[in-house]
Amino acid sequence: MSNVIQLTQDGSQTLFSETFDATYHSIFGAIEEAIHVFIAGGLDYAVLSEKRDISVFEMGFGTGLNAWLTYIAAKRRNLNVHYTGIELFPVKEGTWSQLTYVNQIPCTDLEKEAFQELHKCKWDEEVSIADTFTFQKLLADITVYNFEPSSFDIIYYDAFAPNTQGILWEEELHTTLYNSLKPGGALVTYCAKGVFKRMLKSLGYTLDSLNGPHRKHEMTRAIKPY
Ligand SMILES: C[S@@+](CC[C@H](N)C(=O)[O-])C[C@H]1O[C@@H](n2cnc3c(N)ncnc32)[C@H](O)[C@@H]1O
Repeated sequence: MSNVIQLTQDGSQTLFSETFDATYHSIFGAIEEAIHVFIAGGLDYAVLSEKRDISVFEMGFGTGLNAWLTYIAAKRRNLNVHYTGIELFPVKEGTWSQLTYVNQIPCTDLEKEAFQELHKCKWDEEVSIADTFTFQKLLADITVYNFEPSSFDIIYYDAFAPNTQGILWEEELHTTLYNSLKPGGALVTYCAKGVFKRMLKSLGYTLDSLNGPHRKHEMTRAIKPY
């Protein structure tokens, strides 16, 4: 995988993948998108149900931005988060070590170091990054991964867009993901394409169409009924 660092409009970086011809985040703002879609739209939704122990699954660990922001949020909100991120094409150290997210969010030195820990820890082993945050990176292909049923409270669905990796937006994989959510759990994504939302509905989800970040009109939160 060959990635090039790019600046987005909120001043935070993203990667442009030459292999997929796509950016890892919205060019209008990587940090803004991550906070709006995944932290506010996903993690904070789980908090509404007064849960203090929350299991998060992320499709596409990538730069580690969503995982690191979730680690920060867990500390600030006094939550216990169990985070699993899957990634088939890890970002190389020479690239992730140049990312400057930790300078753009007010945080302590320990919290800055956690960004590196997320990248440096071993694949496929659970580690404790803090009392409030256990973490596991899976080096695997999501399309063939063997999910345990009813495991997750929240899925951060941060795949490359349907026009780039159509297979990741199809019914077969999303049936598996639906089954991997606990009752009352939710999948959140920046994608609000009609055909994708209709497929989610047909699987049994209830949909919340929420305002998207920056100029994007909508994002999607799909809730599995109890
Ligand atoms: C939009 S980027 C994710 C951005 C990431 N969440 C972040 O905060 O940087 C999509 C990610 O999915 C990964 N990916 C692509 N196909 C995959 C597959 N079949 N299984 C697991 N990961 C995959 C890519 O390598 C990339 O890191």
